[in-house]
Amino acid sequence: MKITIAIDGYSSTGKSTVAKQLADWLGYIYVDTGAMYRAITLYAMEKGLIADGFFDKDSLVEKLNQITISFLRNTDSGKAEVCLNGKSVEKYIRTLEVSSFVSIIATVSEVRSKLVQQQQVMGEQKGIVMDGRDIGTVVFPNAELKIFMTASAEERAKRRYHELLERGDTVKYESVLANVMERDYIDTTREDSPLVKANDAIEIDNTETNIDDQFHTILQLAKDRIAKRI
Ligand code: DC
Repeated sequence: MKITIAIDGYSSTGKSTVAKQLADWLGYIYVDTGAMYRAITLYAMEKGLIADGFFDKDSLVEKLNQITISFLRNTDSGKAEVCLNGKSVEKYIRTLEVSSFVSIIATVSEVRSKLVQQQQVMGEQKGIVMDGRDIGTVVFPNAELKIFMTASAEERAKRRYHELLERGDTVKYESVLANVMERDYIDTTREDSPLVKANDAIEIDNTETNIDDQFHTILQLAKDRIAKRI
């Protein structure tokens, strides 16, 4: 039996790392929903609809039907990449600039309903691991396994900071920490689908856990669900 696995939690808690590991191990599809919100954010930036202290929400909503988000496998790396109107934007969506606007874009109900609908279609056949903020609460409220990941803001900022440095970005740790804290605030206080732990989600705090241990804990939970042991 195939199941649906929903992984939610704060930014930079390693959701995508564990979600990918699980999907690989189980032979399931992995969907990074944050990448979908990031691709729409990139669209808004490119069209001049969002900038520091400015957001033309109405124009974005008007143009939503001109935006297609999809995933395509990169034949060289074998990894799925998010595409905006057919073109891979994977390389451009992880910058601090996109990160600084994405939470605002994710407050727009019309954006959310467009993406949620698409995500639900992707999960119709089960056998999917999806990570995001509202997967266990809104997208798949009946998912067999729901994980809610947390870690201290400082630890998360440290991880993100090193990731950005490795990619060659020149950023200050303080700016990354400020961005993490600002996103936590917007994500948890927005009106539409705020980040909250679903009642039946299992909370995992990985401030001090190593990635391998965490993976094995979650994999065991998944195996139990698949075998209907729980
Ligand atoms: O997971 P991430 O950091 O790539 O997500 C980017 C932003 O998108 C995050 O700040 C909140 C938003 N998001 C959301 O609101 N709902 C989701 N299912 C996924 C992401």
